[in-house]
Amino acid sequence: MQTVTIAGHQVPAIGLGTWHMGDEPSLEKQEIEAIHAGVAAGAKVIDTAEMYGSGRAETLVGKAIKDIPREKLFLISKVLPTNASKDRMERSLDASLERLGVDEVDLYLYHWRGTTPLVETVAELQRLTEVGKTKAWGISNFDVADLEELWQLPNGSKAAANEDLFNLGSRGVEYSLLDWQADHKLPFIAYSPVGAPDQINTHLGSNPNVLEVARRHHASAYQVLLAWVVGHQQVLAIPQSSNAEHAKENVLAADIQLTSDDLNLLDEAYPAPTEKLPLDVL
Ligand SMILES: NC(=O)c1ccc[n+]([C@@H]2O[C@H](COP(=O)([O-])OP(=O)(O)OC[C@H]3O[C@@H](n4cnc5c(N)ncnc54)[C@H](OP(=O)(O)O)[C@@H]3O)[C@@H](O)[C@H]2O)c1
Repeated sequence: MQTVTIAGHQVPAIGLGTWHMGDEPSLEKQEIEAIHAGVAAGAKVIDTAEMYGSGRAETLVGKAIKDIPREKLFLISKVLPTNASKDRMERSLDASLERLGVDEVDLYLYHWRGTTPLVETVAELQRLTEVGKTKAWGISNFDVADLEELWQLPNGSKAAANEDLFNLGSRGVEYSLLDWQADHKLPFIAYSPVGAPDQINTHLGSNPNVLEVARRHHASAYQVLLAWVVGHQQVLAIPQSSNAEHAKENVLAADIQLTSDDLNLLDEAYPAPTEKLPLDVL
C-alpha cells in the first residue's frame, strides 16, 4: 500500500473525507459504518473541519472513532478564516476537540485565507501546536504565491501540509504547485480526489479511457482516479463516501500501481496543464 509521510507519521496514502457527513440524522448509522469500513481497510487519516455541518461532521467522526485506539488514526481538522485570529482560534480548536472526543488532533489546517493577517494566524497555529492541542499545523487552498509568502514569515516553513483540490479532471496544481511542495518537502493533501459529485456524474467516472484502465486492473473507475492521484510524490487523497463498500474500495486503491501505458491513456483524455491556471477551489 502506498504511503505518505506527514508531520513525521507514515500513513496510507488514501484517507477519508467527511464533508456533508453528519448532516442527516437518518444516515448516521450508515455513515459511521462507512468510516469503520475505511479504517478496517487500512485508512488512518480522517479529514474534517469545524465548517462541515457547523460541527456536525466532527460530532459524527467523534462517534465513529470512540472505540478505535487513538494511535490508529491521524485526525485532521480545520479552522474557519473568521476564527483564524489570536482571539478566536483556541476556542475553535477546543470545540473541535470536544466534538471529536480527543485531547489533540494530528494536523490543524487554516481552511482558506481570510482577512486576519497571515502572520497572526501562523503565530497562533504554532502556539496551539506548542501547547499540544495539535501535533502539527498546515494550510489549505494555498497556491504557490501564498506559500512563498508563508515561507517568509516566522515559523511559516513549519507548515506540515497544504490541502488543495486535485483530481484527474482538475490538474492545474501540476503546473508548478506540486513541484514547489516537493522541493520544500511539504506534503500535498488532495481534496475532491474523485471529482466530487458534479464532475463524477458529468464525465470522470464514465470516461472510456478511465474505464479501460479500470478494466486492465480489475478495478473500479473510482479506484483508478484515486490511484492516479496518489501516484504523485507525497500526495495523500481524502475521498468522501457514505457507503461502506465504496469507502473500502477507495482505501484499497492505494495498492494499485498504474503503468506508463495507463498514464498515457489518462493523459490523452485529461491532458496535463501547459500554463499556470488559477487554483480550483470548492
Ligand atoms: N480543504 C478544503 O477546502 C476542502 C474542500 C472540499 C473538500 N474537502 C475534503 O475533501 C473530502 C473529499 O472531497 P469531496 O467530498 O468534495 O469530493 P470527493 O471525495 O471527490 O467525492 C465525494 C463523492 O464521491 C462519491 N464516491 C466516493 N467514492 C466512491 C466510489 N468508490 N464509488 C462511487 N461513488 C463514490 C461519494 O458518494 P457515496 O457516498 O455514494 O460513495 C460522494 O458523493 C471532503 O469530504 C472533505 O473532507 C476539503
